[in-house]
Amino acid sequence: MEVPFLDLKKQYQGIKTEVEPQILDIMENCCYIGGRYVSEFESSIERYLGVRHASGCSNGTDALILGLKACGVGPGDEVITTPFTFFATAESIASVGAVPVFVDIRQDDYTIDPDKIEEAVTDKTKAVMPVHIFGAPCEMDRINEIAGKYNLKVIEDDAQAIGSEYKGRKAGTLGDVGCFSFYPTKNLGGAGDGGMVTTDSDDLAVILKAYKEHGSGQNGAKALELLGGSAGTLETGEAVTELYNPYKYYNYLIGYNSRLDALQAAVLSAKLKHLDEYNTNRARIAELYLEGLTDRLRRPVYSKDIKTCWHQFVVCSEYKEELCAYLTEHGVGNGTFYPVPLHHQKAFHAGNCKNPGAGLPIAEMTASQSVCLPIFPEMTDEQAGFVIDTVNRFYEGK
Ligand SMILES: Cc1ncc(COP(=O)(O)O)c(C=O)c1O
Repeated sequence: MEVPFLDLKKQYQGIKTEVEPQILDIMENCCYIGGRYVSEFESSIERYLGVRHASGCSNGTDALILGLKACGVGPGDEVITTPFTFFATAESIASVGAVPVFVDIRQDDYTIDPDKIEEAVTDKTKAVMPVHIFGAPCEMDRINEIAGKYNLKVIEDDAQAIGSEYKGRKAGTLGDVGCFSFYPTKNLGGAGDGGMVTTDSDDLAVILKAYKEHGSGQNGAKALELLGGSAGTLETGEAVTELYNPYKYYNYLIGYNSRLDALQAAVLSAKLKHLDEYNTNRARIAELYLEGLTDRLRRPVYSKDIKTCWHQFVVCSEYKEELCAYLTEHGVGNGTFYPVPLHHQKAFHAGNCKNPGAGLPIAEMTASQSVCLPIFPEMTDEQAGFVIDTVNRFYEGK
């Protein structure tokens, strides 16, 4: 038997009949960017998460950048985050001119350690960026308490956590801004890049939307006012129509071009209807792993307060390299997220990071031992059984 690391083809078969007429509709009507499909998808996400505003953008990295910008994070500011995550988390912080400050993670669930956050706060700290890594929400009550005490913004990196919950509330509603990725391999994955920023704040929503479209138009003017500037009054004398908005060519902020396109929105809307079912299937595979895998592997231990969407199932093994090679040799797809913790990435140095090369022992140990086993909604119990047997057989020889 062969078990792939994930199988996107099977998922496409499940939504094919639903999504193909919509793709055709978009192509025939040539409404490629924005429009009905995007606004309907944004509303569906608002309902699904229980959040006031959801705004589509080009990808998860941009979602983080937009979240940081909307929260006023910029040059001279420090943002506390985890080193055990995908590069884009801290890259977004450096991209807006701020400085990432890495603190260690917890061994049990691989998330940022709230005990370490408070000691990293300085008078330059502007925000915390918790990452719900592999789908498991961070300990948000403690993070929000520290943020409240020091007047910090909380920008959630929800790239891996769509559908996850903390104390019954969905990831993406737990801080000031939520930032999602719809990269194809995510639990809700598009047919290309896509992202979303979410917030309950009406003001932040205006600013987020302005930044993602060059700070232009009436929304850009409102955002400038909210940010303390003066937009003045503008009357172009031209009517706004469905095809032409004269205000679009008046810009009030230096922003970005970061919009979600209609094709992605159509695919994502179709998949969103199945997301809970996808995540339940992932949870079933995780349960099989938790029951069947040898105790000699360290597996994640999650608090009762959270429900993970099981974006990845990650174990730690002192024989990481040998185990991965053995799995590959025996037809079991596998991955190693993340082999280099961010404070050891060459891209971070004293010029753009507070503590490059710092000793963060739990993150370092986890990075050197983490092995991701296959987990995807279409996986069968039989395939999970094969993965378990293969891993356990490897350990019998140890
Ligand atoms: C934790 C985390 N943050 C940010 C991102 C960036 O998302 P994207 O690839 O859509 O830009 C990803 C996606 O890979 C991620 O896993």
